[in-house]
Amino acid sequence: MNKFSPARTTQTRGVDEITASRRLRRMRKADWSRRLVQENRLTVDDLIWPIFLTEGENVREEIAALPGVYRLSVDVAVKEAERAATLGIPAIATFPQIDLALKDETGSQILIADNLINRATRAIKAAVPEIGIITDAALDPFTSHGHDGILRDGIIVNDETVLQVASAAVLQADAGADIIAPSDMMDGRIGAIRDALDAAGHQDVAIMSYATKFASAFYGPYREAIGTQGLLKGDKKTYYLDHANSDEAMREIEQDLAEGADMIMVKPGLPYLDIIRRAKDEFSLPTFAYQVSGEYAMIEAAAANGWINGEAAMMESLLAFKRAGCDGILTYFAPRVAEILKG
Ligand code: PBG
Repeated sequence: MNKFSPARTTQTRGVDEITASRRLRRMRKADWSRRLVQENRLTVDDLIWPIFLTEGENVREEIAALPGVYRLSVDVAVKEAERAATLGIPAIATFPQIDLALKDETGSQILIADNLINRATRAIKAAVPEIGIITDAALDPFTSHGHDGILRDGIIVNDETVLQVASAAVLQADAGADIIAPSDMMDGRIGAIRDALDAAGHQDVAIMSYATKFASAFYGPYREAIGTQGLLKGDKKTYYLDHANSDEAMREIEQDLAEGADMIMVKPGLPYLDIIRRAKDEFSLPTFAYQVSGEYAMIEAAAANGWINGEAAMMESLLAFKRAGCDGILTYFAPRVAEILKG
């Protein structure tokens, strides 16, 4: 006889006795009852769609490491923003692939008023004024070394970078950006950006701080998308957070709030749900997560191999952010999810 066979079990108490008649399966018995007690829900209002920009006209270039995600020329980006608005997606976030010839040591192209990112903002705002535009003031798409700051003698210099990031933020707001979302993790950038925006009359432009941005392996496909993959020397550990640290992440949030951040972001997303929950509990402020390129790529790759149900995994991962306390999620899945939620 198998030693685990029921015959060897001596049942001394019935289940109702064991559970004191509490049976949690009761409310799971039917679709209607599951819907009735569902605690968290994903809606289209939770979505921010990150899109990639490139030069040219009528360009729609698939990114190898991000199947289903494209680099878009400004004219196509406008059409996609129109589609996003029709789907009810509240906001998009733009990331430019800058021509190699325009990149330099200090990322000076970010200070050109009609650079790619600002031209896209102007065009989208003119055609689709009802959609929110979030721009990143970090230098990495613009530097020849792929770092988020000015590199001198092997060091990312903080204060000089902050000045440049703040000037870039004003140009982005001038172009029509509604939210500046600096992802560079320099000390003091939030306060400097707030001061610069206010001095330029942009009191109504908000700041979403990438307050807890971790040095992460999950950014790989993004770097391919904007062409920094081959350029980046070394890593970003002197400015991004150590992924071992949670208390330090809370200090970053506290500091950014003191400097004037309106909302904060945790990045990457799924491996950092504990940080999201802690941030929401400790600060009760609008909290966002960035489901980054590597997270998207993992789901897509497994789905393409038939190893997981991609659509189910996509929906489950996004609902996990809501459960963890997120008010919204930046995700490359945004239009696909919006289509599904629309039914
Ligand atoms: C850099 C930046 C990164 C991402 C957006 N802006 C990280 C990096 O390249 O180090 C990652 C986004 C993603 O992976 O989807 N400021």
